[in-house]
Amino acid sequence: MLSQLVYRSRATHKMSEPDIDKIVTDSEPFNQANDVTGLLLFDGEFFFQVLEGKGDVIHGLFEHIKTDPRHTNVVKVLDSACAKRDFGKWNLRTLILKPESQCYWLPSDITVKRDSRVFSLLNSFATGRWRSCVSAAERATVNCTIATSQIDLTPYPSSDIQFAFQPIVDSRIGGISSYESLLRNSEGRFPELILADLPEQQRYEFDLKSKAIAIAQGAKLLQPGQSLSVNLLPGAITNNEQVVSQLLHYLKQGGLKPEQLILEITESEMVKESDAFFAVIEDIRAAGIRLALDDFGAG
Ligand SMILES: Cc1cc2nc3c(=O)[nH]c(=O)nc-3n(C[C@H](O)[C@H](O)[C@H](O)COP(=O)(O)O)c2cc1C
Repeated sequence: MLSQLVYRSRATHKMSEPDIDKIVTDSEPFNQANDVTGLLLFDGEFFFQVLEGKGDVIHGLFEHIKTDPRHTNVVKVLDSACAKRDFGKWNLRTLILKPESQCYWLPSDITVKRDSRVFSLLNSFATGRWRSCVSAAERATVNCTIATSQIDLTPYPSSDIQFAFQPIVDSRIGGISSYESLLRNSEGRFPELILADLPEQQRYEFDLKSKAIAIAQGAKLLQPGQSLSVNLLPGAITNNEQVVSQLLHYLKQGGLKPEQLILEITESEMVKESDAFFAVIEDIRAAGIRLALDDFGAG
């Protein structure tokens, strides 16, 4: 079966064009002999490679490439069967991206469809939008002043739980874009420990209901334009038909718009019932609530 595998990695040392040419020379014999096609992008720091070919060949090659000391932090971002190749006759075509331009064009013999996942990934890498964290040089240019003010949050005496609100700073705007509400108990215990004490169904109900407190308290912190992030277990999404209406109700009570809520799907649990899960995800999106994958890649 024809497969496509995409990964991203970080160069272990500064690479010049001859270094990239050497990777191509090292790769071509195997790729030609085994009908592997693909593309390698390098932006001066990170690699992004698409490998196409027979599934077992691609998977074996990937395991081999992973051990190459010229790169590290190898993260697979796509691995799926495909009907046809996007990179035609190229056994390994390379494009070196100039970080200052963050702009590239695809040579005309690439047939990759504009609405495909590979194209989205390629585009987000080549434009630099995929970066989830800023480089050391960019970090040095961030100038951000955070003013703190005392806010009176209504205590919840009947509840053993508390929320800590962690500001999330957007380096592009140089200020706080949102707050992440983090569940704690009165002794400062972490959510995993609070949640682990409860039987499954109760855990999901508790997880959702606790958002009433998170949203009520968080709403008082938000300045115009800021959002609130709350974590939710995948099971809390699939095990409660009222999840969307419940969240909308909490938002209304707190005077927040649906767009101000970012639902972070917690990584500590597998998404089990994917059809049911994705149906609710659609409803959440349709309601205007935003979604984030928490600690993506960790779980
Ligand atoms: C970013 C990167 C991409 C690579 N892509 C390929 C590839 O597509 N095909 C390949 O055979 N080797 C590729 N290599 C090189 C392999 O890691 C390895 O050097 C090569 O297969 C020769 O293996 P050998 O030294 O065990 O003979 C790549 C290496 C790096 C650092």
